[in-house]
Amino acid sequence: MEIITEQVLKILNEGILKAFPQVDVADTQLQFTKDIKFGHMQSNAAMTLAKPLRDNPRSIATKIVDAIDKKDVLESIEIAGPGFINFTISQSKIIEYCNNLFNTEDLFSNLDRAGDIIIDYSSPNIAKRMHIGHLRSTIIGDSLKRIYNYLGYHTVGDNHLGDWGTQFGKLIVAYNQWLDRDAYAKDSVEELERLYVEFEKRSHDKPEMLEEARSELKKLQDGDATQVELWKEFIQASIREYNKIYTRLNVSFDTYYGESHYHPLMPSILDLLKTKGLAKESEGAQVVFFDEEEHLHPCIVQKKDGAYLYATSDLACIKMRMEDYDVNQLIYVTDDRQAPHFKQVFSIASKLDWDVKCEHISFGIMKFKDGHFSSRKGNVIYLKDLLDEAERRAFDVVKEKNPDLPEEEQRDIARIVGVGAVKYADLSQNRSSAIIFDWDKNLSFDGNTAPYLQYVYARIQSIKTKAGIDNISSPKSEIFKEPQEIRLLGQLIQFPSALQKAAESYRPNVVSDYLFDLAQDFNTFYNANRVIVEDQDIKLSRLYLCDLTAKVIKQGLELLGIEVAGRM
Ligand code: ARG
Repeated sequence: MEIITEQVLKILNEGILKAFPQVDVADTQLQFTKDIKFGHMQSNAAMTLAKPLRDNPRSIATKIVDAIDKKDVLESIEIAGPGFINFTISQSKIIEYCNNLFNTEDLFSNLDRAGDIIIDYSSPNIAKRMHIGHLRSTIIGDSLKRIYNYLGYHTVGDNHLGDWGTQFGKLIVAYNQWLDRDAYAKDSVEELERLYVEFEKRSHDKPEMLEEARSELKKLQDGDATQVELWKEFIQASIREYNKIYTRLNVSFDTYYGESHYHPLMPSILDLLKTKGLAKESEGAQVVFFDEEEHLHPCIVQKKDGAYLYATSDLACIKMRMEDYDVNQLIYVTDDRQAPHFKQVFSIASKLDWDVKCEHISFGIMKFKDGHFSSRKGNVIYLKDLLDEAERRAFDVVKEKNPDLPEEEQRDIARIVGVGAVKYADLSQNRSSAIIFDWDKNLSFDGNTAPYLQYVYARIQSIKTKAGIDNISSPKSEIFKEPQEIRLLGQLIQFPSALQKAAESYRPNVVSDYLFDLAQDFNTFYNANRVIVEDQDIKLSRLYLCDLTAKVIKQGLELLGIEVAGRM
């Protein structure tokens, strides 16, 4: 069964074409309504057709409605206001659709799912600890990967590590002289970071140390085995450390090709740019200039000393991805300070006639309201500390709410709630804006937060346990009469459409907004109607609503990379 918005759109377009065979229906708009009193979906098609048809919208709407064949999908169609067409879906269709709500193979069969979507996210620069600045890329990228996977795409999650640069010469010198083995075993990245700082401090008035670092770097670049081995060790140690954070965040990758992977390709990229007349010499460097209307700064692809740059590396990376995969699209998740960089790179790729869809998914930075936490360690908040703090705070909340649960379970719930709260606080925002992080708000059990949704899920589990029915089957048709039931059903059927919209706009917050609306409609339903009633059919039908709501919340949160607990 196709997604419900597509089904109704087809019916509407058939009606339009029957009434007005001359018009173009390619851009017909159809949306879910905010309020069920306007039906389930609404279209402004009659209004947009008023101009080309030179008629008033209400009269056009009437002709369209008369021409529509409702099939077994629609219950009624009404014209409202200046000429909106409102569609109410039949209850039997809704129940049938609800029974297929997770049947993704059919639901999303209209999408072009061929090829691979490569998502480039997290991508820290190695030998440094991950901090709050890495959170958004890591979890937005992971969520997009989950959503695209769910829709049936093949995705590749690539952690494009920053593993190449001049700092490695210094690091090799410092490692060879001052490594603290115990500290390295405990937290290798923290130790590497310390070594780097140590080098900067000690080399201050010692040009011979800088000379030594340059010589180590040269050996590394020339592929000298000793240096290459050490550098590889830095990469492996960094990945080992990062994986601890990724595990806690429940984030994973398919590949860890760092920038260095594309290094061998750089000279050929430069050649290509020169041959195509795109790269030009300017003050000894190689530079690509853009047309005035592109409003982009010139892009240096090779420095005077022969070194290649970030943009060159990303061009090489696109080329390699095109060769290695059957690319559907390339998605890059970084903060908005890199927007000019990706504009330059994508523009050059298109000037090279590379036929590849590239999207930079940018986001604003995250700031803290709670100065106390951020001031504890200077201005940097490490992700490890952020997660520790989240679990600690969540543990206090959970202990207070569930004093009788065994401590082990309290800790597990605290982990799920704490990490969930941190992730949700990020993913539920419009990603383009900066985030002000607020512990009290995010760990609240009310409002648009993870704990609120997780709590609704847990509550439904206890309702089910109380009802003592394991097998909740499809309800009888036309059984739902109460306005809150009808409203909740109207919300449930929007789940697949919300996911499709989230994927199209690369916005996980479309999913969280949807889940929040659903949870609220569920609470309204639950506060107004008893579930465990005498009448078996009504009881089963209400349990069905409870169960489906819980399943949608669980699946939706999973697409945000957030877990649920059976009780809270
Ligand atoms: N390592 C970079 C940084 O920390 C992010 C890399 C993003 N991906 C890319 N293909 N440029 O800023």
